[in-house]
Amino acid sequence: MLEHVRNLFRKELPPLSVSEIAASKLTYLPAAKLENIAQCIQQVQAQHVPGDFVEFGVALGGSGIFIARRMDRPRRFVGLDLFGMIPAPGPKDDEKSHERYRVIASGRSEGIGGDRYYGYEPDLLSKVKRSFSEYGIPVDGKRVSLLPGLFEDTLPHWTVRKIAFAHIDCDWFDPVTLCLETTLPLMSPGGFIILDDYKDYGGCKQATDEFLQRHRNVTLVDSTHNAVLQVS
Ligand SMILES: C[S@@+](CC[C@H](N)C(=O)[O-])C[C@H]1O[C@@H](n2cnc3c(N)ncnc32)[C@H](O)[C@@H]1O
Repeated sequence: MLEHVRNLFRKELPPLSVSEIAASKLTYLPAAKLENIAQCIQQVQAQHVPGDFVEFGVALGGSGIFIARRMDRPRRFVGLDLFGMIPAPGPKDDEKSHERYRVIASGRSEGIGGDRYYGYEPDLLSKVKRSFSEYGIPVDGKRVSLLPGLFEDTLPHWTVRKIAFAHIDCDWFDPVTLCLETTLPLMSPGGFIILDDYKDYGGCKQATDEFLQRHRNVTLVDSTHNAVLQVS
């Protein structure tokens, strides 16, 4: 009750616009993908779909900050990432993915707008925490949490029990499959899952298509830029 009264008086920051987050150089997502995220969030909040917002693949934090700044109360944002060098793709990933990984592993990858590539940052997690704070949503372990480590190590311990919106942005077949299968049983009806790399990497597309074959209660509602799935 006291928390409810406190929340009524708490001043919320307005949502960040697509152009504001693009200008931050903290995200790889183009405007059209960010617009899709904003629309899904708007819909789940307008329809009071219960659950937290989660992101698999935070990198520098740009899309996570964009998501968390749109979140109404009492939702939580949970972001999961290794916060280091992205793990290698596997046998089910396409040549484009393997070539991208070879460039990253060789130390030759460029960052956003000529910056240092995030995977070469010595302490990426601290940098991302600072960015969340600078954008007014500190990583307090309550409303906003970041879980560092491989998904396969952190997911068994996470405390998320209900999800309204999930952003899956981890590129390769194996992590995309793991994140989809972990997320689905926790999804509220009416909630959305967005796959960032559906049009970018063959492994993400294959993982998503196979998932859709296995789960008939999930519908692909749009795949123009990223894949937008809705759970019924
Ligand atoms: C393309 S980046 C995410 C970009 C970010 N969402 C943005 O706004 O620009 C992909 C991220 O997925 C993470 N990732 C991929 N596989 C992972 C795994 N198995 N466990 C943890 N993190 C993983 C990488 O560390 C990397 O930071």
